[in-house]
Amino acid sequence: MEKRKVIIDCDPGIDDSLAILLALNSDELEVLGLTITSGNVPARMGAKNALKTLQIANRLDIPVYVGEEFPLQRKLITAQDTHGEDGIGENFYDDVKGEILEGGVDFIIDTLKREEKVSIIALGPLTNIAKALMKDKDGFDNLDEFVSMGGAFRIHGNCSPVAEFNYWVDPHAADYTYKHLPKKIHMVGLDVTRKIVLTPNIIEFINRLEKEKSKFITEITRFYIDFHWQQEGIIGCVINDPLAVAYFIDRNLCKGFDSYVEVVHDGVAIGQSIVDSFNFYKKEPNAHVLTQTDEKAFMKMFLKRIFKGYEEIIDATEGVI
Ligand code: BDR
Ligand code: CA
Repeated sequence: MEKRKVIIDCDPGIDDSLAILLALNSDELEVLGLTITSGNVPARMGAKNALKTLQIANRLDIPVYVGEEFPLQRKLITAQDTHGEDGIGENFYDDVKGEILEGGVDFIIDTLKREEKVSIIALGPLTNIAKALMKDKDGFDNLDEFVSMGGAFRIHGNCSPVAEFNYWVDPHAADYTYKHLPKKIHMVGLDVTRKIVLTPNIIEFINRLEKEKSKFITEITRFYIDFHWQQEGIIGCVINDPLAVAYFIDRNLCKGFDSYVEVVHDGVAIGQSIVDSFNFYKKEPNAHVLTQTDEKAFMKMFLKRIFKGYEEIIDATEGVI
């Protein structure tokens, strides 16, 4: 099978870490590098967290690049209330020995120029992407596909009644990317990701399968689960980012439609993704907006890949997933 080359642009982040684990356990993908942006935590902290996840996956050979440390115009507002002071659930793990490279934006540009077909899966604010586009738009002619976890169409936001976190942190970058990227953006927004809930039942289950990865997943999601209970009255935690990776691999997991999208970058609706589903603006669609997902199929895929060797037992788990 020919592997698809991808750059994962992210802000780890609890659910980013889970998404990286999923990508690294997926034979369809060749992860060329991780580029880190500020979002859930400042970019340098996110880069350290990325190394931790690479260590768990035994893939410290994958390069980690720090990218932009601040949004294009707004002040940085992190989500350490949601992801913990350290960004991965307040476990305060020791730093992993591994190199953190500088120049995430240039890595994106150089890779797009060097490689034939590269896709980008963006799991954080779109600052690195917008900067790369501003610096070298032509490089993006080689871009194969672009998936962005972000935005909200017919569902309430998670930072304001209308805004999702990634687009709210850097709305100028999100809007710039939607307006200038030469490829349609697959918008994996809250409409679909809110359905992806990692429950205590599933956590109990994975701990019975295997010890190392399940310990990591249990530890990093504990804080996130407490946050969801206090904030939203949910038992479990919404893991947004892995759905973007899963959808990139298997289009059957989600359904959506093509539309023109832009992102509000000032005023009361700052960060809102405006989806022109009725074609008022008469503009060419620049996005494929996802609206439906098969959450059970996602969860089975996620678990079967991270816990290889336990596929049969995972398939047989009626009532757990
Ligand atoms: C997004 O915001 C972050 O907190 C998550 O990592 C995810 O990328 C969800 O709104
Ligand atoms: Ca993220």
